[in-house]
Amino acid sequence: MTSTPEPRVLAVGLGARSYPIRIGSGVLAETGSMVAALGARRAIVVTNPVVAAHWLEPVRASLAARGIATATIEIPDGEAHKDFATLQAVLTGLIEQRAERKTLVVALGGGVVGDLAGFAAAIYQRGMPFVQVPTTLLAQVDSSVGGKTAINHPLGKNMIGAFHQPRAVLIDTACLATLPARELAAGLAEVVKYGAIRDPAFFAWLETNLDALLAGDGAALAHAIETSCRIKAQVVAADEREEGERAVLNFGHTFGHAIENALGYGEWLHGEAVAAGMVLAAEVSARLGMLAPPDVGRLRDLLARARLPVSPPALGHARWLDLMARDKKVEAGTIRFVLLEALGRAVVGHDVPPEVLRDVLP
Ligand code: NAD
Ligand code: GLY
Repeated sequence: MTSTPEPRVLAVGLGARSYPIRIGSGVLAETGSMVAALGARRAIVVTNPVVAAHWLEPVRASLAARGIATATIEIPDGEAHKDFATLQAVLTGLIEQRAERKTLVVALGGGVVGDLAGFAAAIYQRGMPFVQVPTTLLAQVDSSVGGKTAINHPLGKNMIGAFHQPRAVLIDTACLATLPARELAAGLAEVVKYGAIRDPAFFAWLETNLDALLAGDGAALAHAIETSCRIKAQVVAADEREEGERAVLNFGHTFGHAIENALGYGEWLHGEAVAAGMVLAAEVSARLGMLAPPDVGRLRDLLARARLPVSPPALGHARWLDLMARDKKVEAGTIRFVLLEALGRAVVGHDVPPEVLRDVLP
């Protein structure tokens, strides 16, 4: 993988709670200076054994070099552990470490670590600061930015959580070198999402550069990450608490969350469920006459080339509706969908007639 010379810096503009996103190869080595700049003298790194084996040492060394006292809390790997039991274990670890309100949590890992550590930081002593250091493509382009933190409930995905913005996001593209191919593809699903909802030129760029991305080309990955984070930062700055526009980021997710819940958390990766969910949402858009059928084909083809599932599992109509009715996008009992008017233009809050859902859901 080639390295990017200087980190690229974006900002999430949220007034006094604004924060930087630093993107580049080797950015992990900035953890200590960032934590010091944020005024913390102690850091607690939350991670898991898989990530720790590859990437904990450079983070620890960077914190030590700045004289930051550091402890580590490891949680078990996997979506199945984004739950109450693991949250409690992290909170217990924070108390045992005598973490104070000004101690800073460093979330080092994928979206599971980031969501859970961020939620622990949101509620420990009513809130402590945290920094996101995402190590999967999915976390680098999506979950580390925007302040949504959560755990799953057996009855619903991400049902228990809080908005709690990080103080900074450090995206080290070198971390992707150790990421399994299936996880890289899952992250690409969210990258494709940004093109589909907001940026037709980026969607076309992805069609041209998908093979380079799958091959781990550093420059292509850095461009995809930066473009994705820029779109996400704009949307979050405009609607932090998802009162309207931010829902656009949930394109494909109402179907995707139903798949994850129905099959058991971790069976399909989040990005895989979102990929199949985006194709369903595009098919619904076409059936409602909003989206040209060839555009459904372009979306399906791009996701399939990324080796992502483009056909949903057969759950049965009643089960789909039951699962989707629990979604956080439900308003006054009605499921609100994010649909496409074109590749690059999404609309939020759309009703879908039951017969259309019956036609597309297996
Ligand atoms: P994950 O955190 O489970 O990570 C995937 C796998 O890769 C894990 O086994 C992990 O240990 C491993 N891993 C991480 N970094 C690695 C590296 N550099 N090298 C080798 N292995 C590595 O999954 P994910 O896809 O990162 O995140 C999915 C989660 O993110 C879901 O729970 C989803 O709900 C959440 N999410 C949250 C938001 C948000 O806005 N908060 C947005 C999108 C997704
Ligand atoms: N991933 C959806 C959001 O951050 O709003």
